[in-house]
Amino acid sequence: MELKIELTRQPKEKPADENKLSFGHIFTDHMFVMDWDKEHGWHDAKIVPFAPILMSPAATCLHYGQEVFEGMKAYRTESGEIRLFRPQENFRRMNESHDRICIPKFDEAFLLEALKKLIEIDADWVPHTYGTSLYIRPFTIGTEESLGAHSSTKYKFLIIMSPSGAYYEGGLAPVKIYVETKYVRATPGGTGFAKTGGNYAASLKAQDVAAEEGYSQVLWLDGVHRKYVEEVGAMNVFFVLGDEIVTPELDGSILSGITRKSAVEILRSWGYKVSERALDIQELVDAYHAGTLKEAFGTGTAAVISPIGELKYNDLVMEINHNEIGEISQRLYDELTGIQWGKVEDRFNWIV
Ligand code: COI
Repeated sequence: MELKIELTRQPKEKPADENKLSFGHIFTDHMFVMDWDKEHGWHDAKIVPFAPILMSPAATCLHYGQEVFEGMKAYRTESGEIRLFRPQENFRRMNESHDRICIPKFDEAFLLEALKKLIEIDADWVPHTYGTSLYIRPFTIGTEESLGAHSSTKYKFLIIMSPSGAYYEGGLAPVKIYVETKYVRATPGGTGFAKTGGNYAASLKAQDVAAEEGYSQVLWLDGVHRKYVEEVGAMNVFFVLGDEIVTPELDGSILSGITRKSAVEILRSWGYKVSERALDIQELVDAYHAGTLKEAFGTGTAAVISPIGELKYNDLVMEINHNEIGEISQRLYDELTGIQWGKVEDRFNWIV
């Protein structure tokens, strides 16, 4: 497919102070757009100036949530090189989400090339400061003008990009997480594994309640037994229990995180015992009382490695590692970000 390019005639001001960058508020000069319809398949791929998109108020995505998104980052090394971290994994996962939400799949190799071109055009927007990056948000929406609740016959695929700092305001400071016992995020056979907006919409109520109590996010329990630990929404979770590092297994209702997968691979390469298995919240409580709950951290593209300093389950407030970043979390953060920003050898061949 041909990729058309239309450059902006009104480039925007870049952020003046990269140390003040927050997450996802500023957007670069250009975006990628392509369309799908039954006659042409995916077509009309183009890079155009970042601007509002025109669509019918009857577009299916606005009514029935037929939407999929991804999150990835471009990093700038000290020598000025711009790198992506395992982008093929994001496009592969995006196609899996497409499949679940009945959106036609796309050519992953073409999209990677289009993304590289988009970044090349907006290269000056990739921030220079260590810890900042260009957050990349590919997403697809159903655009058919119709109020019938069926798979759309038209779609738009876009990529927008945002120079960003840490996802959590406190950066690497441990976050407080609230174990959700009332609301449910996903159930078996549902869409929990897919990166679709509806999963996030379903999580907001619980998050708002938790925020009122001073917690950053909620930890979801499984929707059937209401006791197995799942994920945090913006990140997967890991717990250091004695000499075992446990992360919930991919059972179809949690997101198959790329940072999660990378963390498992790095930790195993260091010789740690990492188990992907069912984790009962009671096991965490017991480990806390026995003193074997040593560390907890979340992993995600936006969240990177986020230490968890406090976990509240019903009336029990569990302080973890004295609310400080643990040794394993810190080592993992240094290794992962080191690979991403080119300070540590890319021994897994993850960088593009
Ligand atoms: C990401 O980590 O990239 C995500 O998409 C999570 C989102 C809630 C920021």
